[in-house]
This record gives sequence, structure tokens and C-alpha cells, in this order.
Amino acid sequence: MSTSNTDNLSSDRRPEADGTSSESTPGLAPDLEEPIEANSPSPSDTDSALGNDWESYTTSVTSSIWNYEYENGRRYHAFRRGQYVIPNDEQEQERLDFLHHIHNMTFGGRLFLAPIGDNPQRVLDVGTGTGIWAINFADTYPSAEVIGIDLSGIQPHWVPPNLHFQIDDIEAEWTFPHSQPFDFIKIRSMAGSIANWEVLLQQAYDHMAPGAWIEVQDFEAWASTDDNSLPDDSNYAEFQRLLDEASTKFGRKMNIAPHHKKAIIDAGFENVVADVKKVPLSPWAKDPKLKELGRYMQVQMLDAVEAYALALLSRVLGWDAIRVHALLAGVRKDLRNLDYHMYSKCHSVYGQKPFKNES
Ligand SMILES: C[S@@+](CC[C@H](N)C(=O)[O-])C[C@H]1O[C@@H](n2cnc3c(N)ncnc32)[C@H](O)[C@@H]1O
Repeated sequence: MSTSNTDNLSSDRRPEADGTSSESTPGLAPDLEEPIEANSPSPSDTDSALGNDWESYTTSVTSSIWNYEYENGRRYHAFRRGQYVIPNDEQEQERLDFLHHIHNMTFGGRLFLAPIGDNPQRVLDVGTGTGIWAINFADTYPSAEVIGIDLSGIQPHWVPPNLHFQIDDIEAEWTFPHSQPFDFIKIRSMAGSIANWEVLLQQAYDHMAPGAWIEVQDFEAWASTDDNSLPDDSNYAEFQRLLDEASTKFGRKMNIAPHHKKAIIDAGFENVVADVKKVPLSPWAKDPKLKELGRYMQVQMLDAVEAYALALLSRVLGWDAIRVHALLAGVRKDLRNLDYHMYSKCHSVYGQKPFKNES
């Protein structure tokens, strides 16, 4: 995939009351204030995915890291067992790679929005997953030494020479040398993974060079509509309430995206910009391109609902798998109902570490 981020200065920046700004990046998905006109149904298709080989470049990998856990037919990480509730099996890896393309479509093909310049040096991808973002980034910027960190070693063997993967817990104290600060840190789709965002962002800040950029990107784990077309007693509405309840109880809130901007400002970053796009959850929009984006999102969502709910509802709320699957059957039916004009807001928020360190 070819991706350019050097021409992203043409977007439209809007100042806000808190001194930060919102920004609109040209892409497939509309901005918040733009209504989406509804149309009629159509089925969908899937996409190819990267290989799912793994390799660790860390020096201290023990075999326990690879003793993955199996539960209700899905595979979960073993390192820091139980900390992350989403599977790491092949099915999930395909979903993550597919979601990567959706992120790219949403933001006009851009891997990131922060104005990092053409010559980034040290770059960190937090919770790299299959490594697809990091691979694309390392390919695009050969100048950069890129590190991708994850609890699971699900990344491929064959990667650009300037990219290294590490198995580690990003919530633990960072061991990166302060003598080699990062000049770009990307944190994407980590909603539901992090117990304390404040600590994560502070560690990031402390390991960044003055003037360096951070970017946090997440979909809201909450479907919105502009026309109240999702009934309150629908399976989908029930599903998202339960997901919110279980993830909050678990201590890693899933619907965290609306809080990213404030968290980044509170961590001390400057020039904070939030770009928020509306992405339909199914192909209900009239506009053909948005309809296509919705079709992609629907395929992803039909899979995501199990990935997000199975462990959370069973481990945290004590549901058995049969009950979860029964709920999910109804949720998938709702995702296919094009009278429900659901969309999720995708937040991409970036900010800069001040050049002058005040501490
Ligand atoms: C939803 S995936 C997102 C992957 C990738 N950022 C992307 O956008 O394609 C979240 C990833 O974060 C990893 N993860 C969750 N908690 C973590 C932690 N504490 N430290 C490192 N990785 C973590 C998971 O293993 C998973 O691969």
C-alpha cells in the first residue's frame, strides 16, 4: 500500500474553546457535523491479510509467552495472561489487518495525521498487533528505526530491516533508554487494553524528544445515529451497554476514544488536534463511497462483536458462551439491518511535546 503523509497540511483546522483545534482530513468518511444520507442494502466482501507468522527480537523471551490460552474456541495471549480480553488467533489477525485498511480509507489513505516531517528517526508503535501499521510505516520511512511492541508475538518474520518487534507490556515501566527518545509514537486501536491512560501517556511523554509527536487513534465502542434509528431495546443497543459495563468493571474501558483529546492535553502535549470521522457500521449510506466504507466496516463488525464480547461477558459478567453467542446472533442481525443508520466516530488525536521542557 502506498501512503503519503507529507501532503496533509491542506486540511482544514478549526480552533476550539480549549485552545486546541479540530481538524478535517480529506478522506472517505465525513466529519462530525456532516449528515450522512441513507440508502438501500447491499452485501459485502472481505479482504486479504498479511501472513500470521511471528518472530521475537527480544532477548528475554521465555516459552511461557507462547503457551497461548484457549477459551470458548478462541486463542488468547499468554504473557500477562488475562490482561487483554481480545483473541490473538488467525481470525483476529485477519480482522486487525482488515481494520487497518478501514482506518486508512477513513483518513484518506494516511497512516497518520501528525506533521512529523519527512525524516523521522525513532518511532514506536504501541500495541502493534500484526505489525501492519509498523510495516507500512517502516517501508515508507526508511530513515526511521521503528519498534513495534505487543503482548503477543503474532507479527510476521519478513519485515523491513528498520523495523523490530518486541514482546512486552506497555503498561509496565518502560525500559527504553532515555538517551534515545522517540520522535513519533503511534497508539492505535488500544481502547479496552489500557487500565491507566494517564500513566501510559506520561511514560510516552517522558520518552519523547522535545518537539516529537504522539498520535492516538480509536473508534468509539458506541454506535451513534443522527436519526434515532437504533431502538433502545435492540440487541445492538443492549450489546454496547453490556460491553461498556463489563469493560468498565474490568478496569479497561472500551469506549475511551472520546476521552483521548483531553488525556493528551492533560499529559502536557501542545498543538493538540483532533480529527473525528463518522464511519457507517453497515452499507446504509446513499453516497457510493461511504456505502463501500460501510460495507467494509460491516464485515469487520460482524467479526469484531465476538472478539470484543466473548471473554469480557463471560469472564467479567459470568455469562456462559451459549448466552453470549445468542446475544451476538441478534447483534449481527442488527448490523445487517440497514434501517439502523449506525455509525462509529473514529478519533485521531495528535499532539506535540513542547520544545522547552518545563520540568
Ligand atoms: C486491537 S489490537 C490493535 C493492533 C494495532 N495497533 C492496529 O491498529 O492494528 C490491540 C493490540 O494491543 C496489544 N496489547 C494490549 N495490551 C497491551 C499491553 N499492555 N502491552 C502491549 N501490547 C498490548 C494486543 O495484544 C493487541 O495486539
